[in-house]
Amino acid sequence: MGIKETESWGSRMGLILAMAGNAVGLGNFLRFPVQAVQNGGGAFIIPYLVCFLVMGIPLLWVEWAMGRFGGRQGHHSTPFILDSMGKRALWKYVGVFGIWTNIAIAAYYCYLESWTLSYMMHSVLGTFHGKTQEAIGNFFTQYVSLGPSAVGIPYEPVFFFVVCLLLNTWILSKGLMAGVEKVAKVGMPLLILFGIFLAYKGLTITAGEAGALHDSSVGLNFLWTPRYERILSPTVWLAAAGQIFFTLAVGMGTIHCYASYMKSKEDIALNAMSAGWMNEFVEVVLGGAILIPVAVGYLGIDKVNELVQLGGLGLGFKTLPYLFSQWGPILGAFSSFLWFGLLFFAGITSSLAMGTPWMGFLQDEFSWRRKPAAWSFGVLVFILGMPTVLFFNYGVFDEYDYWTGTVALVVFALLECLLFAWVFGMGKGWSEITDGADIKVPRVYRFIIRYVTPALLLWVFVGSLFTPKGGDWGAYLKGNWETDNSSILNKILNSSIHEKIAATADLSKIAQLRDQLFYVNASRFLLLSLFVFICGLVFVAHQRRCTLAKRKRMEATLELTKV
Ligand code: ALA
Repeated sequence: MGIKETESWGSRMGLILAMAGNAVGLGNFLRFPVQAVQNGGGAFIIPYLVCFLVMGIPLLWVEWAMGRFGGRQGHHSTPFILDSMGKRALWKYVGVFGIWTNIAIAAYYCYLESWTLSYMMHSVLGTFHGKTQEAIGNFFTQYVSLGPSAVGIPYEPVFFFVVCLLLNTWILSKGLMAGVEKVAKVGMPLLILFGIFLAYKGLTITAGEAGALHDSSVGLNFLWTPRYERILSPTVWLAAAGQIFFTLAVGMGTIHCYASYMKSKEDIALNAMSAGWMNEFVEVVLGGAILIPVAVGYLGIDKVNELVQLGGLGLGFKTLPYLFSQWGPILGAFSSFLWFGLLFFAGITSSLAMGTPWMGFLQDEFSWRRKPAAWSFGVLVFILGMPTVLFFNYGVFDEYDYWTGTVALVVFALLECLLFAWVFGMGKGWSEITDGADIKVPRVYRFIIRYVTPALLLWVFVGSLFTPKGGDWGAYLKGNWETDNSSILNKILNSSIHEKIAATADLSKIAQLRDQLFYVNASRFLLLSLFVFICGLVFVAHQRRCTLAKRKRMEATLELTKV
């Protein structure tokens, strides 16, 4: 489709902000606090920080190094980056994860991102003002059920989803420097500014003022008081590791892609740390200072615990607009607007990153130009995302999130770590990480990347595959091998839905559960089909490369014979 357009980053600051923007996302403000609440507050923080040090940081270095290495050879997506590091044909198909995961995550992530646009509009229009908590909760339920719009926009969720996709596609079509980097340079500082304001409000809540039940210290103590009794629970560790993957966007393929556009000797060690620590600041300091202190301050720990069990997104969308409204009509609307604005910037800087591996692949392998490549991403995400919009209440959204935003990240991270440390070789790998480094990388990380990170990744994967019932790991030692419905095994078997069907005699409920079963299986089929489709494209791309190489060899031989 034309001449190849070369892409690169405009500046080091731009690269770091884009990488940080890739990491800082909805996960920092919505997923992290909810994970922390669900895993006992203070019990979560220590495993979380340890996972950051022994899995997050090493994987950041590994992925940045793989990306820069691949980029030097003209590869900008994981199938051929991995292919250039291992001799076996298999690696390029492992690399398919690095494109597939992004398209599939973008499909539900952009829908979530589009809610923030709609909620910003409703904050400004005063839709939430003077409403009870129940009414604001109902607003959300009605929204995701595609009920009538409060402002008369037909199919409002679909409308905002399309607007959000158009915005993403348009920015992507501008390219790295003029699109992604520009948005990161504006979006990240604004996000931090909005976050600081909301964190300040969250941290200065005083019992009795504007209807608050507790001081903000209650929520902060809940989050920050270590609880050593649960520190050995593998379930808490699995949750902490899952959050680290999601928040740093490791195991996805976006970091490889962004890093592949770096200069060949540009620093990796310090850049990766800057982006990684910026993400942790936003997640732990800002993310930890808004949702939990505000929610606990107004509702108390027990109520927040109860709400979180009903679904993580509820706290951010169903509860927070109501809590903000306690601060009066103007400040309430302003805070609500800043909150959803912050979520929007966090979301878009991540969803843009999700588009780049697919675009890089089409540009490298099929000589597509940037614009059609960007539009093809928009179209794919629309097709794959519409089921999450239309059948949200049947669990399609959660299904996508589980397989692509949770399981796939661990699988890909494990395989790429093995490739880097054991196939490509730690010697070469270490030079890739330290080449051009502006800081001294602690040598202990050579050992960690080779042994500790893959071992932990394997443990996380196996632990998620066979999580015991009720998270009681001791039961396995006693020979009780019953697995929990949260385990990958039970998810595959749809045990939770089958159990619900078996437990009820209500025919309409059974019919509803059967529908859910259908949509869940259909969404898996869709995701699997996309994976197979990308594998097919990689196969074709490989054939094209072989043909091209053969032609070049023949031409060279011809030249030689002429001489
Ligand atoms: N890293 C992105 C987030 O936290 C995906 O939302």
